[in-house]
Amino acid sequence: MKVRHSLAAAVLASAMLIPAGVPAVAGQHQPVPQPPGLAKQDTLRWVAPQDLKVGTAVAGGGHHETQSYPDPFTYDTEYRERLAAEFNSVSPENQLKWEYVHPARDTYRFAEMDAIVEFAQANNQVVRGHTLFWHSQNPAWLEEGNFSKDELRAILKEHIQTVVGRYAGKIQQWDVANEIFNGDGTLRTTDNIWIRELGPEIIADAFRWAHEADPKAKLFFNDYGVEGINAKSNAYLELIPRLQAEGVPVDGFAIQGHLSTRYGFPGDLQQNLQRFDDLGLETAITELDVRMDVARGTAPTAAQLEKQASYYQRALEACVAVDECNSFTIWGFTDKYSWVPVFFAGEGEATVMWDDYTRKPSYHALQETLEQASPGRGNR
Ligand code: G3I
Repeated sequence: MKVRHSLAAAVLASAMLIPAGVPAVAGQHQPVPQPPGLAKQDTLRWVAPQDLKVGTAVAGGGHHETQSYPDPFTYDTEYRERLAAEFNSVSPENQLKWEYVHPARDTYRFAEMDAIVEFAQANNQVVRGHTLFWHSQNPAWLEEGNFSKDELRAILKEHIQTVVGRYAGKIQQWDVANEIFNGDGTLRTTDNIWIRELGPEIIADAFRWAHEADPKAKLFFNDYGVEGINAKSNAYLELIPRLQAEGVPVDGFAIQGHLSTRYGFPGDLQQNLQRFDDLGLETAITELDVRMDVARGTAPTAAQLEKQASYYQRALEACVAVDECNSFTIWGFTDKYSWVPVFFAGEGEATVMWDDYTRKPSYHALQETLEQASPGRGNR
């Protein structure tokens, strides 16, 4: 099997503006220094309770490839400094998705993810793996390959064993299966190639293969639109214990949390997390952001920012209140690199920092909520 380490450099160099003299994927072995002027004690990870990881997506791939900036994780020094200083958990935003990490049937592209894992280890951070089994961001060779059932099964098994095996012992939690249900609680039997071609039983196999490749990693289902008690979250509540009764190694249920101030805050989030906790599962918030209606060229109002801050705060409070909700991740920490305006015309400003890394009320809401969760007991 061929493992390409140099593809990242070639892709970046051809598609992006790269500062002269900067290597495409720099060595990540050294701890990143604290940002100038920022006290260590004045960060999210410092004030977080000891048993709660506070994380962010690491910007790269996906929508970033169509933007005019070079790869943020590789080239933006201030971004890297804040990433190391503020968070003790990181999630690859796109760098582990099939189309990115497995661009051809016999080709893996690990350089970017290796760099993230090395960065995390150097900066005392855990890593969430995202994702192994999804209907989206799959490469054309897979989706259009006309493979037989046996071939597809072998392809999935090989992918999971290769990717999970490579990072065994270095990834704390895996989003093994991502977004497998429709909004009405039925399985995605049309757009998820695995379920469509191999039947729902393949979900259990994905978890088994991941567990074989890294028995210590915690294995999760992850989805959006499951913040509250509804048909989709009910479907997970029914599926997970059923799988566990069959001996399938499922450890947790993760709620993404892509929220909008257009809609009310999902007030039953805590209750929903609790009912999974009651099953003996770990839970996590994995992709929180809160977008607002902001016309291009205008700034959000103070009232909008306060509303956004209250959503961040309530989501964190819900997680903190539930025993085994032990990982709280935001989907990017600066508006500079957020996916939101790329996807939602007229919406944006969804993260906790402005483009220049200054903090919004939502940042302060998180910091204060963490501090209150364990006064004086920081997560050094
Ligand atoms: O599919 C086209 C491809 O045909 C084209 O060649 C390419 C050109 O750059 O664009 C491709 O689509 C991009 C896609 O990533 C695949 O690379 C989109 O433009 C781009 O916007 C997209 O962004 C990512 C998105 O997932 C895709 O679903 C975002 O960067 C990423 O933040 C976002 O993350 C997801 C989580 O993984 C799962 N939960 C929801 C969350 C937000 O959508």
